[in-house]
Amino acid sequence: MQYLPDDPVRLSEDGKAVIAIDQRMLPGSTDYLTLRTAEEVAAAIRTLAVRGAPCIGICAGYGVYLSALRRAEAGDAPCSSGFFADAEIIRAARPTAVNLMWAVDRMLTCAGAHRTSDSRGFCDALRAEAERIHAEDIANCRSISEHGLTLLRDGAAVITHCNAGALATSRYGTGLGPLLLGAERGMTFHAYVDETRPLLQGARLTAYELMRAGIDTTLMCDNMASYLMATRQIDACMVGCDRVAANGDAANKIGTSGLAILAKHYGVPFYVFCPCSTVDPDCADGSAIHIEQRDPEEITTLHFAKRTAPEGVKCFNPAFDVTPASLITAIITEHGILRPPYDMRRA
Ligand code: MRU
Repeated sequence: MQYLPDDPVRLSEDGKAVIAIDQRMLPGSTDYLTLRTAEEVAAAIRTLAVRGAPCIGICAGYGVYLSALRRAEAGDAPCSSGFFADAEIIRAARPTAVNLMWAVDRMLTCAGAHRTSDSRGFCDALRAEAERIHAEDIANCRSISEHGLTLLRDGAAVITHCNAGALATSRYGTGLGPLLLGAERGMTFHAYVDETRPLLQGARLTAYELMRAGIDTTLMCDNMASYLMATRQIDACMVGCDRVAANGDAANKIGTSGLAILAKHYGVPFYVFCPCSTVDPDCADGSAIHIEQRDPEEITTLHFAKRTAPEGVKCFNPAFDVTPASLITAIITEHGILRPPYDMRRA
């Protein structure tokens, strides 16, 4: 399936840079960033040029490889202190999506296993590991989509929040995967897309992806879901996530837990989709998940032609919230469909 112009993140032809779609510019223009250093990779993740939990992990994997390459070119031995410092810069780019830390840790484990190799062997091993993280995500998204599709009837109407499509992963996506895979097989769906304030991932990215895939798409403001569920037949809510605790509590884009509460009220199934790399078995429950707080300008100014709020107003701008496991009908991973009670350490 190729309804996007490109993978959101990939290695350049010469293997010396990450080429990333600048997601801040979509849907108006498709611009590419060339990222060569740990600082550039971290900045792209921090500013949401590269975003979505699995996509951040893929980018981080390539970023650690690029650091090894640059350090080797500068004459550093494998596993130099500069290499580890670079890895920490990437790890610290954002706090909530565990795929970021998971990917950095996986790359560092690989580095440790090849620390006695010569520089060439060290870099080759890290490049192969980063490419494996990428390839596995493509396969995982496909499996998640297959499992998710079994939950939907032809003609289903679904609500989605934020963007959990190919831009947030690689191919198909997680929360949007069943729709994209089903559409490819000739099924029809009606997708209602929350605009997802304040950064508008739903309006800018999800609507763009679904329309390019030929899916019937309706955009709405985040505060319209209750009225929609009260007045129309909605078959499911489908979202991705950034970190799942051991008990099934799931952090995702701010507003997700509100949608889950509405879904419970109206008896609409609420499905969370993620690869197992998004599960954090060290987090007992959602209260241990670090919720990122972002710049107030995102609320007052960023997507408005002119500033809407009074100068100096205090702002509350958490980027994520946690949906309690009790509101989640099923969690769908590459291994299948999990139902409550959840024990994600076995996922
Ligand atoms: O702040 P973002 O845009 O990175 O937030 C992304 C989300 O909340 C996604 O729903 C989540 O990462 C799942 S992506 C498959």
